[in-house]
Amino acid sequence: MEVIQQKQKRQIGVGGLKIGLRERQYVMNVLESNRLSIGKYVHRFESEFARLHNRKFGIMANSGTSALHVALAAMKELYGWKDGDEVIVPAITFIATSNIVLYNNMKPVFVDIDPATYNINPLKIEQAITPRTRVILPVHLFGLPCDMDPIVELADRYALKILEDSCETMFVKYRGRPAGSFGEAACFSTYVAHILVTGVGGLTLCDHPEIAVICRSLIAHGRDSIYLDIDSDDDLSDNDLRRMIERRFSFVRLGYSFRPTEMEAALGLAQLESYEKILQRRRQNADRLTSGLKPLAEFLHLPYIPDDRDHAFMMYPITVKRRGLRNDLVAYLEDHGIETRFAFPLLDQPIYKKIFKLDLNDFPAARYVGQNAFYVGCHQELTGEDIDYMIEVFHDFFKKGR
Ligand SMILES: Cc1ncc(COP(=O)(O)O)c(C=O)c1O
Repeated sequence: MEVIQQKQKRQIGVGGLKIGLRERQYVMNVLESNRLSIGKYVHRFESEFARLHNRKFGIMANSGTSALHVALAAMKELYGWKDGDEVIVPAITFIATSNIVLYNNMKPVFVDIDPATYNINPLKIEQAITPRTRVILPVHLFGLPCDMDPIVELADRYALKILEDSCETMFVKYRGRPAGSFGEAACFSTYVAHILVTGVGGLTLCDHPEIAVICRSLIAHGRDSIYLDIDSDDDLSDNDLRRMIERRFSFVRLGYSFRPTEMEAALGLAQLESYEKILQRRRQNADRLTSGLKPLAEFLHLPYIPDDRDHAFMMYPITVKRRGLRNDLVAYLEDHGIETRFAFPLLDQPIYKKIFKLDLNDFPAARYVGQNAFYVGCHQELTGEDIDYMIEVFHDFFKKGR
């Protein structure tokens, strides 16, 4: 404590953003074009992002939640699923993952996680499968891909679809394949404090052309796919223009107003040009944090990265091994300017307690993580000195004889 007080207190956010020249230039281009609705920046961002994840189609939406919402809705429509059909969801994740199942009138069936990786435990999935299961929805949490091979194997064996919630993970591989390239669709978020940050924003990636068309329609009020943006009636022959005019104000499904603007896409596209640097800095910061915190391994479970995958380190998760100590540690960190969040307790959220009435004892790993884990930032704007400061604050807390 004394040492820290002599040092200057730093502000260490879970996210950090610096708008660079490229972002400014692209956003200025958008403003000067007088075109804010979906146009060339959105399309370029979608196709470039899809390409980097080995996917055929990308559909940008106004959030990761919207992207997930329409991806599941598109699958439900295409495959004729019914209300009440089931979707397997991990018992630790951001609440949007399971909310979108509810928005689609489907039923989330929660499965416990692996406390070492924080991701869904593939060994627990099979026992949750019923005749009404349609989808497994793994979440690549904090930047670490799930153990996908056993999930894909189960999905094949039981004829289920996979929808990946990759809102926290981009540009990383599991066994040589990009996270986000395994499921029928995969969704990403570019919300504040994510790996790419556009303010609000999200993407659905998929390979099935009909899923792509339905998603595009759903984010635009359920419009007929003949007219999904204002360029659709450019350069048409007279006959085609007539046909277009007859159909372009036609709404064929119950859709939503989930469209992004060109400005979010401009920010995303600019950041995409330096995604490798962003990832490299995050990994350096995470490595430095891990080396500095290793002497505290008797108290802290630090991020575990299985050999077969990379970590994008959207966040740096930590579980406090001694029960009851997390909240004191978190208060101490916050008091020293280090921002934290609890690591996604889900099933005991007030709204979920009302809806589901689940027994947390059925999810021992999720209960343990929900009560004892939290995360701090390790984003690209943090310097080596910031990380050293964080390490020092942690050590100082434990020096007090805990
Ligand atoms: C795992 C997960 N799923 C879904 C979302 C929703 O993304 P958004 O905030 O862009 O709606 C988030 C992030 O906020 C997330 O972390």
